[in-house]
Amino acid sequence: MKVWDRPVRLLHWVLVLTVVPAWVTGGRTDSVHEWLGYAAAAVVAARLVWGVLGSRYARFRQFVRGPAWTLRYASAVAAHRAPRYLGHNPLGGWMAVTLLACVGCLSLSGFLYISDWLWGYAWLYWTHFVLGWLLVALVALHLAGVAFSSWQHRENLVRAMVTGKKAAPGEADVV
Ligand code: HEM
Ligand code: HEM
Repeated sequence: MKVWDRPVRLLHWVLVLTVVPAWVTGGRTDSVHEWLGYAAAAVVAARLVWGVLGSRYARFRQFVRGPAWTLRYASAVAAHRAPRYLGHNPLGGWMAVTLLACVGCLSLSGFLYISDWLWGYAWLYWTHFVLGWLLVALVALHLAGVAFSSWQHRENLVRAMVTGKKAAPGEADVV
């Protein structure tokens, strides 16, 4: 059945296509890096709007769970008895929010770093630098989480992010 609507899928893959080249062009002094960073920020902004206006599984209210719920889910994962979620599972939901926040903060810090107001401040450069590496760590964790969940529930989540479709929920699944 359909889970991820078209904007969710499109924004995800455009985010990947802006963030990866933005990272790679980090050392460049022309404006390519900056424009890729602004494009990534625009995707984040669009995703925030869609997280309020979008279809059921696109909404933050649907997948951002409280700390107690998330911890209970994490211990269920460790015990290999995590239920399948049709939308993002609680850890995946927090990962989505953290990734979006990290990209947003990266673009903001880059923008401020080249602004007349804060140009050349070392602390801002280091903020940008550290966030850049934090993003690498988060993406690695994100990919590991996607691979693990795909394996645990025998469902290709990458394909689902392309087609939008996932297997219909069973009785024990969280919808
Ligand atoms: C997705 C967004 C972004 C990512 C992943 C990113 C990543 C990076 C990385 C990895 C570096 C290299 C740091 C180093 O090793 O020296 C860098 C440098 C830089 N970034 Fe970004 N960045 C982003 C957005 C932006 C934006 C929006 C701007 C400005 C509008 C910007 C301005 C700069 C500048 C000026 C440097 C060079 C700093 C220097 O070497 O003096 N970045 N960025
Ligand atoms: C720069 C790299 C990446 C970033 C910043 C990123 C960010 C995100 C975000 C924000 C979401 C939440 C989707 C939403 O609700 O809008 C997500 C989900 C997802 N991403 Fe990525 N992603 C990256 C790379 C990748 C790659 C390379 C793959 C595949 C190989 C991938 C596969 C997925 C999948 C399958 C989901 C859905 C997970 C689930 O079923 O809950 N991502 N990603």
